[in-house]
Amino acid sequence: MAANHDLTYGSYLILDELLTLQRPRSAPVHADELLFIVVHQASELWFKVILHELDGLVAALGGNDPLAALTAVTRLNALMGIVASQLGALETLPPQRFAEFRGYLGSSSGSQSVQFRAIEAASGLRDDHFLKALEEQGPMPEAVRRALARPTLQALFEQLLSAQGVTLDAVYSAPGPSVLFLVAEGLLEYEQAFARWRFLHVQLVERIIGPITAGTGGTLGTRYLQRTVGQRFFPNLWDVRTRLYAGHSPQTDAS
Ligand code: HEM
Repeated sequence: MAANHDLTYGSYLILDELLTLQRPRSAPVHADELLFIVVHQASELWFKVILHELDGLVAALGGNDPLAALTAVTRLNALMGIVASQLGALETLPPQRFAEFRGYLGSSSGSQSVQFRAIEAASGLRDDHFLKALEEQGPMPEAVRRALARPTLQALFEQLLSAQGVTLDAVYSAPGPSVLFLVAEGLLEYEQAFARWRFLHVQLVERIIGPITAGTGGTLGTRYLQRTVGQRFFPNLWDVRTRLYAGHSPQTDAS
């Protein structure tokens, strides 16, 4: 393919548009609002990539391709780590400074993030809490509808196991690791990476607005978020561990 000599770094990345999309609402502009906006926008960009990679994971699991599934889930875990680490930038936002521009955010809230809800739906959250949170925001967005129409990641992994002719218990009791074992552990790591984001986020929220201040989205704030940390995408991957220990009574000299 011939090189396009008109293309520059800026025009390829459409930076002239991208860099005009950070528009603080505070007046006069608060010095910390740019950071607040950029961390959210960057997170949404990563959510976009995560949703794309989830499509790849769904295709690999559904297409009976364990190696492709392992590749996809490994990348997803790297992406979740990036999104979580970005929250660290906002830990430098002191509460009194956030209070100075929080009023300008109106009723906007991270809980209205369509891509976050689509990631949850694609990953397997279908419970009442999740569907209620969606209903409160009006008609179901297309990205979420599409994710809800697919089987959960757990169901797709079970499908892969049966296509490979094994059970989850067999994968975990085999003497050596297998690709299927690595996929299972990768999925569990994804669950934990997601929970780590939730935990770091709730810690950030408590640090900035305190334990009982309501959120701009109208929830109980910290107390609401704390309840979401324990949500699970892969109950079966936790249950298999319990079964491994069932019948083993603890030794008196072991911890
Ligand atoms: C100053 C920093 C932040 C504060 C004080 C904050 C506060 C909150 C609060 C109070 C909620 C609960 C919903 C509500 O009533 O508003 C919430 C939810 C949420 N926030 Fe943040 N947030 C911050 C940073 C972020 C960042 C950087 C992201 C990245 C995208 C984010 C994404 C979300 C999401 C996705 C939810 C929904 C969580 C769920 O329902 O499980 N937040 N946030």
